[in-house]
Amino acid sequence: MAEKLWAGRFTKQTDQAAHDFNASIAVDCRMWREDIAGSLAHAAMLAKQGIITPEDGQAIERGLLEIATELEHGKLEIDMTFEDIHSFIESELTARIGEAGKRLHTGRSRNDQVATDLRLYLRGQCDELRVEIEAVIAALQQQRDAHPDVIMPGYTHLQRAQPILFAQHLLAYQEMLRRDILRVNDCQARMNVSPLGSGALAGTGYPIDRASTVSALGFDGYTASTLDGVSDRDFCMELAAVLSIIMVHLSRLCEELILWCSWEFRFIELDGAYTTGSSMMPQKKNPDLAELIRGKSGRVFGDLTALLTMMKAQPLAYNKDMQEDKPAIFDAVDTTRVCLQAAAPMLATMQAKPEQMRRAAAEGFINATDCADYLVARGMPFRTAYKIVGELVAQCIAADCTLETLPLAQYQAANELFTEDIYAFVALEACVQRRFS
Ligand code: ARG
Repeated sequence: MAEKLWAGRFTKQTDQAAHDFNASIAVDCRMWREDIAGSLAHAAMLAKQGIITPEDGQAIERGLLEIATELEHGKLEIDMTFEDIHSFIESELTARIGEAGKRLHTGRSRNDQVATDLRLYLRGQCDELRVEIEAVIAALQQQRDAHPDVIMPGYTHLQRAQPILFAQHLLAYQEMLRRDILRVNDCQARMNVSPLGSGALAGTGYPIDRASTVSALGFDGYTASTLDGVSDRDFCMELAAVLSIIMVHLSRLCEELILWCSWEFRFIELDGAYTTGSSMMPQKKNPDLAELIRGKSGRVFGDLTALLTMMKAQPLAYNKDMQEDKPAIFDAVDTTRVCLQAAAPMLATMQAKPEQMRRAAAEGFINATDCADYLVARGMPFRTAYKIVGELVAQCIAADCTLETLPLAQYQAANELFTEDIYAFVALEACVQRRFS
């Protein structure tokens, strides 16, 4: 166990089990780049303000850059016996440059430090998320471009409702994902505010310059309240909410893929590279990836719930409860990203089965609304037309035929407004054409 940053006040060593329980390095070590970036900005500001000497400022910069390079190339390993990534880097710096390293933490607390690191880290993750959502939208576009005219049944209540285009069905998911990108942007913009300078909770008496760390770290501004600065985790809750909505969308899409690749539907076939077999049943081709994405949505919702519950009863300002923010938000980010990464190639490579979709669309009287519209176009009130067509559908069911094949005599017996052109009017292509062009 390494010596604690806060060892001075204590006469006893931390109990090993208590240390292990308290430590967060296993989770926060992934923020080492952000921690170093934050420290570089802070040290440069301290030197600029004359709070530390230029020589100390340069020594700190040199030391931190050296640590960064060595970590990047695997020459230095993070020592997991430290309490957190902040203690490890500060201690490593002091081991390398001596006394100057001990000046780095002037006018700073781990409370504003960790809030800064986390905002920087999640800001970067938002950039990655945006690219990965775009890739799913592009995969859907590939399918739309390959099948611009394929007709499929559109559903409400999972009952065949009206004929639609496969491309229109996929457009609905593209729209959801486009809104997700806007939400990521919004959330990223709101999180891009610097808490650095908030100190432990009450700021600092040193003549620091918050604006210079803001610009060095690419923030848009700094938090007005130092108490809020160290204890605000809205950006974690908000991102987890955004991620949860993304997962709802992916889960709905995957649910459809799972249905569509069943032999009951057979609207699509998933590529062999993105499906799995069964150890027992030789005929099986299982949509495991789609099911896993659907299943993992629950994890992300759980992370959001964990964050909301963790925050809801904390008095101002920082409390150690907040250390629990990272396992939850990191898991939510990692899970959503891996799902987006799995979804894109699975969607791009799936094979649509146009004949099957067309056949299903022809079977469910999904042009009944159009048939009623035909009568309306010839002057009949919609409600009357609706009733007549309902009776025709009943006749079709009894005769085991469809509105496309019902004899004209039967149409005309139901109402004299029907003429030969009814067949062209209720043709599925015509129905789709009327609505989607
Ligand atoms: N590991 C802590 C966290 O993630 C860092 C801040 C610790 N601050 C403190 N006063 N104990 O929240």
